[in-house]
Amino acid sequence: MAEISKMTSGPVSLAEPMCRHTTFRIGGPAAVFACPKHLEEVADIRRWTRRRGVPLYLLGGGSNLLVSDAGVQGLVVHTGSLSTLRSAGDGESVTVSVGAGVSLPRLLERTVRWELTGLEPLVGIPGSVGGAAVMNAGVGDFDLSRAVVRIRACDRRGDVLDMSEQQCEFGYRSSVFQRRGADLIVLEAELVLRRGRRRDIRREMRRRLLARKGRQPRREPSAGSVFKNPEGASAGRLIEEAGWKGRSIGGASVSPIHANFIVNRRDASAEDVVRLIRAVRESVARKFGVELELELKTWGVTDV
Ligand code: FAD
Ligand code: EPU
Repeated sequence: MAEISKMTSGPVSLAEPMCRHTTFRIGGPAAVFACPKHLEEVADIRRWTRRRGVPLYLLGGGSNLLVSDAGVQGLVVHTGSLSTLRSAGDGESVTVSVGAGVSLPRLLERTVRWELTGLEPLVGIPGSVGGAAVMNAGVGDFDLSRAVVRIRACDRRGDVLDMSEQQCEFGYRSSVFQRRGADLIVLEAELVLRRGRRRDIRREMRRRLLARKGRQPRREPSAGSVFKNPEGASAGRLIEEAGWKGRSIGGASVSPIHANFIVNRRDASAEDVVRLIRAVRESVARKFGVELELELKTWGVTDV
């Protein structure tokens, strides 16, 4: 703890309950929890964890994450304080540099103010820019990678690299960052947007928010879609047709609004969610011969 505190000007805590940092409101304690304020601090921490063999976990908005009830033994680095947000360029295209810890809603709010178009489809997605890059968050056939030119990342040696969009190997809800885990930490994204009219940008966002309304659960805690859509099919439809919509295990339920969302209805444990995931998956495999792949990321959870 003392060593970590020396490496960062941000807060460091012990036994931090992860349920406070996930949109699921589920998760036991992180042994050590740190919020570095600068890219250099992240790099120092990365070098230290490598030298010491300490497991490292990266946390953005916690909106795609299930943490076990026992929590995690290791260091959780929360990126929330990596908050750069600036724009450059006076032509039709404008480059926006944004820190991994900036929330997507905040980024979108700023692009409205700057009258920049290109990110409207992402409205309504919670979480951080770092998490959105890792997950290549999106809607329909639009995802964040469309706007990415470069990602600044930190490798396992603590070296900071600028990676081109191609090097990020973006795909449907996938990226090189996801595959490499804590070996590549997203620090900052460089996006290219176009000039637009504030009124049009706002209208488009409103239209998209409205389209989401009533089709996805918003009031009950969740982590978005649990499974990726299989090629040519919809996970939500398969789960509904397998008869799981609205069914519960412990405090976790398959949302009656959207069957690919699991909601924390009554103080669900991570174990409740895991049992529900297994049951749904087995049922869909038996009925349709389709193996659903998890979109959700898990920490400290085995056999899911
Ligand atoms: P986290 O949950 O914090 O982390 C996700 C993964 O990324 C973890 O493996 C974590 O270790 C890793 N990670 C986080 N930050 C970094 C970093 N800086 N460097 C390296 N690794 C990192 N997603 C969509 O794509 N489309 C949607 O329409 C959508 N709608 C949603 C609606 C709701 C109500 C909710 C709750 C979720 C929704 N999601 C959606 C899922 C989620 O919001 C996205 O996946 C989001 O991009 C995750 O970002 P995050 O910062 O919360 O990531
Ligand atoms: N459907 C059902 N039953 C359900 C839910 C959906 O039959 O319970 C059917 C719908 O009627 C529709 C089809 O499935 O015909 C697709 O549903 P929807 O439009 O809700 O989209 P989705 O494919 O389930 C994807 C993303 C969402 C994103 C929406 C935007 C994935 C795994 N999910 O959902 O992203 O918000 O499109 O429309 O790709 C996320 O990734 O976390 C996420 C929420």
